[in-house]
Amino acid sequence: MTETFFEADEQQAIDQYLQQGFVSFELDATLLDSLRERLFTGARSLLDLPADLSVDAFFDQIHTWVPVADLNRVRLGFIRHLNGDPSVRPLLYRLAKQPLGWIVGNELAMQRSLNLSIQFPKDASSLLPLHSDVWSGNSPYEVVFWLPLVDCYATKSMYVLPKPQTDAVLADFGRYADLSAEAFFQAIKADVVWMEVPRGHGLIFWHGLIHGNRINEENDTRWSMNTRFKSLLSPYGTKELGESFLPITLRPATRFGYAYRKPSIHKRES
Ligand SMILES: [Fe+2]
Repeated sequence: MTETFFEADEQQAIDQYLQQGFVSFELDATLLDSLRERLFTGARSLLDLPADLSVDAFFDQIHTWVPVADLNRVRLGFIRHLNGDPSVRPLLYRLAKQPLGWIVGNELAMQRSLNLSIQFPKDASSLLPLHSDVWSGNSPYEVVFWLPLVDCYATKSMYVLPKPQTDAVLADFGRYADLSAEAFFQAIKADVVWMEVPRGHGLIFWHGLIHGNRINEENDTRWSMNTRFKSLLSPYGTKELGESFLPITLRPATRFGYAYRKPSIHKRES
């Protein structure tokens, strides 16, 4: 019998992440609702919304009340609203605490500022061409917690190129390096997986995977938050500790370790 240190469900998540580079999981519904409520409350102060509007209709149909030319200004308003509320980052962490522990560890650094993507149907102005975050200097030790606030599927979602196919592209990168982003996408299109993440579920993925989005061809708006996490003591990329990342679950053993100084052997003069 082989020695094993992981519980069965933990092992399953680890195996899936190792094989695919992503894993999805169920969220605590009360925590998610409270996050959606906060955004809805923020929206009431930012926008002129009908008094009887439901939370669901607000998220799915926000493109009805905001012209696309105004989308970025409104999105930045929401991001300011989220970053101004000190309970949001702990709430996000709590939503993904268990799978983060399984995939990354329990002593974590978390992205300092929060992000929000809002993708209107048929809008070509907020697209993210295919990329790997590691290409722009992020540490390969990071993961992204991708949190949809609405049902995400097909082009209303994002796509990733799973780990084996990303590895194959990177191993033969010369073939792709000179292509435009669109030609690159066409070359890998058959292998990408569109993330089916219904509301109430979250996703952790390795941002070293090739990923991106396309025009949202569905009828409703996509809302998602993406937040980077990494093991506190793992190597940092261009996003440094204290700048882009803050420690969130520093353990006392590490505090003692950081503070330890080798005792001096010099005798004190008396
Ligand atoms: Fe990315």
